[in-house]
Amino acid sequence: MELKKGYFITFEGADGCGKTTQLELISRWLEENSIDNLKTLEPGDTGLGKSLRQILLHYEKPVANAAETFLYLADRAQHVKYLIQPALKDKKVILCDRYTDSTVAYQGYGRGEDTERINYLNNIATGGLEPDLTLVFDVQSETAQKRVGKDKDRLESEGMDFHKKVRLGYLELAKKYPHRIKVIDANRGIEEVFSSTKEAIGELLNL
Ligand code: TYD
Repeated sequence: MELKKGYFITFEGADGCGKTTQLELISRWLEENSIDNLKTLEPGDTGLGKSLRQILLHYEKPVANAAETFLYLADRAQHVKYLIQPALKDKKVILCDRYTDSTVAYQGYGRGEDTERINYLNNIATGGLEPDLTLVFDVQSETAQKRVGKDKDRLESEGMDFHKKVRLGYLELAKKYPHRIKVIDANRGIEEVFSSTKEAIGELLNL
């Protein structure tokens, strides 16, 4: 089925919130409805992004907050130009695992960097491209951490305090941009969460 335009949907939430599982389920559901979609993620879905991801998630020495922020933004700029914009032109539904709100939640609320400045920098990295819809999968931090398990990357290894700040950051963002961001209660089972996810995306796409 040919859509009139492309749609850009982002999946957000703290580590272990279950957004990636939902993204996979939605992609399959769109396929069943013959809707062309692109599954993509940040950081690391371009050639340059793969190198940046390796540094971001596995660099073992301390990383300055500003350096961390700029690396995520560099990945994003590349991602928007070479993957997201072309897919939008092709009228695809883009299912993107993390985007600008991750930087506000993690580097802003989590690390304590100035969120207004991050907004400004996000805007430069994306050329102002905003998602049509953002789903924030909200789950209690203790549950989320259990889901992550023991094999943790650099960000996941931060303490509970950090993860709680990230979660609250997302909820603040949802309050600030209610027209764009929908919060989905991800404390429930996969099927229940999927039914809310499908409802939100179905409404956007008129399905
Ligand atoms: P990833 O393994 O892709 O985790 P997830 O499946 O939870 O998305 O790792 C991405 C990590 O990078 C995750 O801990 C969140 C973090 N992150 C930021 O801190 N800022 C950002 O701008 C982005 C895009 C991700």
